Amino acid sequence: MSQDNAYKNLYNGDWVTSKNTIDIFSPVDNSLVGTIPAMSFDEVNAVIANSKIYQKSWADMPISSRASILHKCATLLDGNIDYLSHIMQKEIAKDKDSCIAEIKKTADFIRFTADAGKHLEGETIGADNFPGFKKNKISFVSKVPVGIVLAISPFNYPINLPASKIAPALIGGNSVIFKPSTQGAISALHLAALFHEAGVPKGVLNTITGKSSEIGDYLVTHKDINFINFTGSTEIGKHIAVIAGMVPMIMELGGKDAAIILSDADIHSAAKDIVAGAFSYSGQRCTAVKRVLVLNDIADDLINELLKNIKLLKVGNPEDSCEITPLIDNKAADYVQDLINDAISQGATLLCGNKRDNNLIFPTLFDNVTTNMRLAWEEPFGPVLPVIRVNSINEAVEIANSSEYGLQSSVYTKNIDHAFNIANQLEVGTVQINNKPERGPDHFPFSGTKSSGMGTQGIRYSIEAMTRSKATVLLINP
Ligand code: NAP
Ligand code: G3H
Repeated sequence: MSQDNAYKNLYNGDWVTSKNTIDIFSPVDNSLVGTIPAMSFDEVNAVIANSKIYQKSWADMPISSRASILHKCATLLDGNIDYLSHIMQKEIAKDKDSCIAEIKKTADFIRFTADAGKHLEGETIGADNFPGFKKNKISFVSKVPVGIVLAISPFNYPINLPASKIAPALIGGNSVIFKPSTQGAISALHLAALFHEAGVPKGVLNTITGKSSEIGDYLVTHKDINFINFTGSTEIGKHIAVIAGMVPMIMELGGKDAAIILSDADIHSAAKDIVAGAFSYSGQRCTAVKRVLVLNDIADDLINELLKNIKLLKVGNPEDSCEITPLIDNKAADYVQDLINDAISQGATLLCGNKRDNNLIFPTLFDNVTTNMRLAWEEPFGPVLPVIRVNSINEAVEIANSSEYGLQSSVYTKNIDHAFNIANQLEVGTVQINNKPERGPDHFPFSGTKSSGMGTQGIRYSIEAMTRSKATVLLINP
């Protein structure tokens, strides 16, 4: 896969290089992690043609055989935890514990997917329960692959998010073209190598790396792509949805998850949970808590507890198991700093943070954030948490729902009736009660409303989305 850290793409069962390459530098210390190929249009065409050819034989392989290959891949992942985690720490500056957790969780995801795929069954439907039809017509419905799935992943989970697209697509009989984020591609190519080593046949999984500004639009609009499974920013997701036309898609996009704290909440455990939810991997998670909506009468107590927990966060390098590590690049840190500056200039109360060392932003907490500030609405994707005080539950729900995003929300309360009433009103994919927003466990449905995405992921849901119901109808002559 690589020679002297010059990484290659998986194409037709071989590792291939391209004329041009892209240097990948570490967000930790700017050292060179390696180079990846910058594929040309001709190379992209060759990949797509190759994926088309080999999809058919893969679909013909018994599901149990496809499942065995996925199980082998999961075992290989478990056996490569230290090595992969080291690369991830360097390439995306994720802390060691989170890297290890991501890899283990991915192995479990792949195993569960392999087993879930064995339950992919069709049905037969008689016609006579529809008015005017007799028993002489039967529809045989089978689940068939959609064809070529294009999997596009973001930088923040370079192992888990690609696998959560690749494994369900493969078990469903599709071939997969995997285009990882440029930063994160080296980790992602290692994942592809494990699928390859596990026995995924040639052409069934191919990878494409390169500059999205050059090949991205071409790839997503190619006529032979049958499904796009995208995770990334709302901006790019919406762009792809507009230009790709009539291709089925799953979009997992940005979020502005609210934690709503009612007066009767267990403040101690809520604060601990919120800080973990807001600041793990420096807030670079779609499901991070990105705003706190707290009832005024308990706001002071909550803030004291939040501050206590924030002080426990370790700031520094990924290999030292710090929760707060350098952001993915300086542009990302500049964006977070702009949001911090805007909040300060508009009168928010800075409680801690607003300290920066290049792309390392220290954990930052604001009180008295108001709805005229950018921080109330925009996704920082960094370690900054705004607290918005509210006077009623209705006000909290109204602010929560006024966001352009609708990924998840949390409600902290001991009153289950309040919790369910609020949950019923929140316009999000998932409401967590007394728990921080999070994706897992991965067989739960995971989706976003509004600008947070479309379609539903989750093991069974993902397999169903990337297969289709094909009907063959039999007319029995009397
Ligand atoms: P991003 O900049 O949108 O990039 C995502 C992917 O899209 C990358 O692989 C990128 O490749 C590719 N891309 C960019 N332009 C493209 C084009 N025109 N055609 C095809 N592909 C293109 O996102 P990111 O910065 O990596 O990730 C952070 C964002 O992802 C946040 O907004 C976060 O909320 C969101 N996210 C959402 C979820 C969820 O489940 N809802 C999960 C994780 C992350 P290059 O790297 O080569 O540009
Ligand atoms: O960044 C988006 C991920 O899908 C969130 O997963 O809740 O396990 O961090 P997580």
